[in-house]
Amino acid sequence: MRQAGRYIKEYREIRAKVSFLDLCKDPNLCAEVAVTAQEKLGADAAILFSDLLLILEPLGLGLQYTENKGPVITGGITFPKDVDRLFEVDPEESLDYVFKAVKKTRKHLAPEIPLIGFAGAPFTLAAYILEGGSSRTFLKVRQFMHTEPSAWHGLMEKICRAVIPYLNGQIRAGADAVQLFDSWVGCLSPEEYRTYALPYSREVIEGIKKGTSVIHFGTGTGPFIEDFAEAGGTVISVDHHVRLDQAWDRIGSGKGIQGNLDPEILLESVSAIRRAAKKILKQAEGRPGHIFNLGHGVLPKTPIDHVIALVEMVHEMSSR
Ligand code: CP3
Repeated sequence: MRQAGRYIKEYREIRAKVSFLDLCKDPNLCAEVAVTAQEKLGADAAILFSDLLLILEPLGLGLQYTENKGPVITGGITFPKDVDRLFEVDPEESLDYVFKAVKKTRKHLAPEIPLIGFAGAPFTLAAYILEGGSSRTFLKVRQFMHTEPSAWHGLMEKICRAVIPYLNGQIRAGADAVQLFDSWVGCLSPEEYRTYALPYSREVIEGIKKGTSVIHFGTGTGPFIEDFAEAGGTVISVDHHVRLDQAWDRIGSGKGIQGNLDPEILLESVSAIRRAAKKILKQAEGRPGHIFNLGHGVLPKTPIDHVIALVEMVHEMSSR
């Protein structure tokens, strides 16, 4: 998650020459960024270099990435009738550059390294559309879903119809697993999650080609992790607001778990990182099905040496 972000020198050098959106649309550069990050960090898997908001353009929305405000989405939804204005997305046609990036990345990665494709979950994509960008309060999206349930349903169904073929296209192009990012779902109450988000995440996950592992990612899902897991996924990702062992008990041992180091720890000393990593591995008790990861993306000021040290210590402490 943003592994290739601003803390990797090679990435910053490429970004000095090309905008983020142009980079996402250049399959050769995407492959270079993803492969360099995996090799430099020594991670056990690579994630596609792309962004979850790219799908908003073929839906008919304007998308810009700004230096200070993060992503800005224009032409969004204010009234229920605006939902009808959004286009049906044919990813083969409008997001072909992403499939090309998957192919190129798969080709250049070491064969034993799995490549993870990804997309935004319906709730998180709808949140970006309704808020027009990042938000602290998520008032607009919550107000819309409460007051316009039928337009909300129409919007979420339209997003599902775009995301399912988008993920399956990535799998066809060579992604070995896919991750569904519901980054902002933690702003919902358990009841809201069940009513307004879960059915659509389930629909997407059920639409993914059978036999493909799905990592279901969310942050702030501690209060409703059982419901979140019920929506589906081979592996459930948890952040540092829950204990990994307790979360795993609640999810059930039939599912894998991903997590859950606090990204802030990587700004501290190597010995603090070791202590925190050890604690998580102890909670996982060496049980199969644990993917060691951060609970959320790497922070921009993180020293790369700390990330490399973390990968090395997790390998060392979990080797059998
Ligand atoms: O790790 C990787 O770099 C893999 C590719 C990847 C990116 N974004 C690249 C990126 C992945 C998997 C994502 C997912 C993503 N994108 C999420 C879910 C992950 C999470 O953190 O919950 C979200 C919410 C987005 C939307 C998005 N993209 C935001 C909010 C931002 C701005 C962030 C900021 O701090 O300014 C982006 C930009 C983005 N996506 C960057 C990268 C490398 C930084 C772009 C740059 O300035 O060069």
